[in-house]
Amino acid sequence: KKFRIAVIPGDGIGKEVVREGLRVLDHLANESNGQFSFESDFFPWGCEYYLENGKMMDEDGVEKLKDYDAIYFGAVGFPGVPDHVSLWGLRLAICQGLDQWANIRPVEFLPGVPRRLNHPDVETLNWILVRENSEGEYSGVGGRNFSGRGNGNEVAVQSALFTEQGCERIIRYAFDLARTRKRKKVTSVTKSNAQQYGMVLWDEVFARVSKEYPDVETDQQLVDAMAAQFVLHPEELEVVVASNLFADILSDLGSALAGSLGIAASANLNPEGCTPSMFESVHGSAPDIAGEGIANPIGTIGSAALMLDHLGLKEEAKLLNKAIEETTRKGFLTRDIGGTHNTVEITDAIIENLSMV
Ligand code: NAI
Ligand code: MG
Repeated sequence: KKFRIAVIPGDGIGKEVVREGLRVLDHLANESNGQFSFESDFFPWGCEYYLENGKMMDEDGVEKLKDYDAIYFGAVGFPGVPDHVSLWGLRLAICQGLDQWANIRPVEFLPGVPRRLNHPDVETLNWILVRENSEGEYSGVGGRNFSGRGNGNEVAVQSALFTEQGCERIIRYAFDLARTRKRKKVTSVTKSNAQQYGMVLWDEVFARVSKEYPDVETDQQLVDAMAAQFVLHPEELEVVVASNLFADILSDLGSALAGSLGIAASANLNPEGCTPSMFESVHGSAPDIAGEGIANPIGTIGSAALMLDHLGLKEEAKLLNKAIEETTRKGFLTRDIGGTHNTVEITDAIIENLSMV
């Protein structure tokens, strides 16, 4: 089968790591004896495109992407273009335009990677963060520029939008996911003591849906307490479901605990399969190290594994994850996780390990 992939490298290290991810995918396709192949089309959207064309992507960009089986994304954002312009103009435009309402972010320890979480009872970490990816705090509802603009009295409103359907589908997704795991537990994160409308609705939906899953253990936490629990009681967590903003923050914390932002993978899914899903690392474009060839490609290559799994290439996905583990186990590490290898060397090692695991 031929899979059509839309590739959006984006900005900064996004370009460097996506190139490596594609090398891995091509290698797997070449080894498949014609069973599957990837046809990649490149879209040059991002901050450079914006500076030349005044827009982050084409007007019909989202429509164009609908023709593909999956989207492979680097990162967006670079000095010179305001971050809210680049994020809204590309990544959020795609996620929301294609109704990729579930953002899945596994948090795992990799062998040989010095982790920053040292807990006496925790040898392995294997959480999945489930992020609501279509509304909540990133719904874009609000505005600026009331009568005070320019005289020091400006007011801005940034509303969070929570719909019962939006809450229900992501919470249900988390419960279904929990059922596929050895430990069946879902922790829901809100801040419903201070945010008394949307977050309370979320809590109520969570309580209602949980009744349909009596076999799944549940827990509810406020986000501030959850941040502490990530560090103090990591053994309590399995599947964590949270709103757009909260899960965004918690996933950076989770990946840092596991070692680095550079190793965290993610999938923006349209679980109904009506539109293509998008696979990207959790990290951004890292302008501080862009162009040096030292970015950690594991987050983006791990995202390619999530893409393989989503496309039905389950064995290949497992193989790739094993090859990544083998690579770090053998001490192939980039600078962010205490090593000296560069981006290309890590990928070379992963490709070599693919034929050994
Ligand atoms: P960032 O994730 O780009 O970088 C944070 C820190 O982690 C930096 O010190 C960076 O060098 C390091 N880091 C990140 N990925 C790494 C990797 N693969 N290997 C080694 N080190 C890595 O976040 P930051 O600095 O807050 O944002 C930079 C730009 O990225 C901004 O324009 C921001 O808006 C954008 N951004 C885009 C995202 C996306 O496209 N999904 C997500 C987060 C930020
Ligand atoms: Mg983030």
